Formats: sequence, structure tokens, C-alpha cells
Amino acid sequence: MRSIIDISDLSVEELQELIGVAEDIIANPEKYQDACKRKKLATLFFEPSTRTRMSFEAAMYELGGNVISVSSAASSSAAKGESVADTVKTVSCYTDIIAMRHPKEGAAYVAAQNASIPVINAGDGGHCHPTQTLADLLTIWREKGRFDNLTVGFCGDLKFGRTVHSLITALARYTGIKFVLISPQELKLPSYIKKDVLKRNGLQYVQTMDLESVMPELDILYMTRVQKERFFNEEDYLRLKDSYILNPEKLKKAKPDLCIMHPLPRVNEISVAVDDDPRACYFKQVLNGKYMRMALILKLLKEAGTI
Ligand code: CP
Repeated sequence: MRSIIDISDLSVEELQELIGVAEDIIANPEKYQDACKRKKLATLFFEPSTRTRMSFEAAMYELGGNVISVSSAASSSAAKGESVADTVKTVSCYTDIIAMRHPKEGAAYVAAQNASIPVINAGDGGHCHPTQTLADLLTIWREKGRFDNLTVGFCGDLKFGRTVHSLITALARYTGIKFVLISPQELKLPSYIKKDVLKRNGLQYVQTMDLESVMPELDILYMTRVQKERFFNEEDYLRLKDSYILNPEKLKKAKPDLCIMHPLPRVNEISVAVDDDPRACYFKQVLNGKYMRMALILKLLKEAGTI
């Protein structure tokens, strides 16, 4: 049974296929409105979410299917000590596909090992978030028309930011990509990603603490929130939380076709004054996420022989 735990579980060809299906859904939504009729998606969210859970649910409804949901750990038997393995064995009896978010790294892998239906990782701790990457890739594709030869800046919490880890892993497979990693010392990209993804593939990257000095060279600027929930002490969070605040002044040196991205939610790292800038793409990412999740649900249910 095929599950999607990491973005590397999808080949470059499959990413392009999903983008093609998402674009067809955007152009011809009526073609897909009964594609998952009488099928069910379970959204198991043991950690807070607005976009990921709701876009998965909207995706399944727009495919003609239904949704059952656990929206918090406190409202499920996880609160009584039930394991992830037992939870997904149970949920496999009721539904056709699972999207799961969990605060522990590796939880989605455990779920996939124990479920008898496809499992989609909707974020596992500070590890990865492959379906956010699908949203990000469709956004880049629609804004830039390519994945090759782009200079991509990642700014903020690169240590705990799972969306950063997944998007770097995805973009590492294209040619001519240059990564600019902008963070405080304490929030640098984990060394396992530098070693296993960047160095192993011979990719160009620079690390800096100074956003403004690199701004003119960026094609994409991917801002991130400092992930308060993953800090061990509040003092460190308070010291680092305002490290980068993007505002119209800082964008004066940026390219006219810069693509400003953020997985959201934001706290204060992008000033609301930037929202009216035509280069702001973060609410486009939100909508693109629904279409890519529709395409992924379709693909996994077809491969499982469910539809
Ligand atoms: N981007 C993202 O994962 O947002 P939510 O936490 O609201 O799902």
C-alpha cells in the first residue's frame, strides 16, 4: 500500500503529473466532482492546523467524497494513551485514506507501516511536510513556469521549519538551483539536510544572517515563522522570534518578479503591508494546496484500486 511520508516518495515525473492534474482540476472542476463518490478521507490531526486539515477536507468534498475527522489529540483515544499504530489500524476499518499530522517526527512512518490504506503525512514534528511542498511547487510553477535555474532564499526558522526541509529536498532534484539560507545561528538548517540533500547532490548554497544583503539576487523568498512550539525554553524563543520582519522597505532592493512565499500561519515575520504587493504569493499557496491535495488523493486512491 503506497503512502506519502516524505516528498522523496514522489519522483520528479510524478510531481509534474500531480501539477498537470491540479491544473486540469482548476480548469475543469466539474470533471472531478464525483471522482471519489462514496469514498472517505480521515483527517487525524494531533497538532493544530487550519490550512492543511481544512484543505484536505475541502479537497475530498470537491472530489465528491466524505470526511471523518479527529481535530485534536484531546478529542481522540490518543488522550487515553492509544498508540499511533492502534489508531490507524482502527481508522483503516472506517475509511479509504488517511491524512495525519502529529507532533512526533516519524509518526507518519509508523502510521503507514500499520495502516491498510494509504497514509499521507500532513506534518510530523519538525521533520517534514510533503503536501505543503506540493502547494509550494504548484505556486512556483504557476509564478515562474520552471523549477530549474532559480535562486531560492529560505529565511527564518530553518531548524524546526518542516516546510523548508521538504521544499529543499524537492528542489534539490532540479538543475541550476542555488539555495540562500538566511537564519540566526541557532536556527540554521539541520546538518543532516545539508549533508544528505545539499552536499550529496553537489548543490550550491550559502548561509547568512543578513536578509537585506542577499535580497537583490533572489527569485523566490520563502519566509518562515519561528516555531514557538518546538522550543525547549521560552527565553530562547523570545530572543529569536523577531529576527526577521519583511516589510515594503526591505523589498525595495528585491527583483520586480520576486515570488514571496510563506507556508503560513504567519505571526509577524511578514508585515501585513506586504500583502498588497503583487509579488506576495502566500495566499496563492493556500489555494494551490487544495488542488494539489485533490490530485494526490486521486493518485493514491487510483493506485490502491479504490477508485
Ligand atoms: N501551512 C500549514 O501547515 O498550515 P496549518 O498549520 O494551518 O495547517
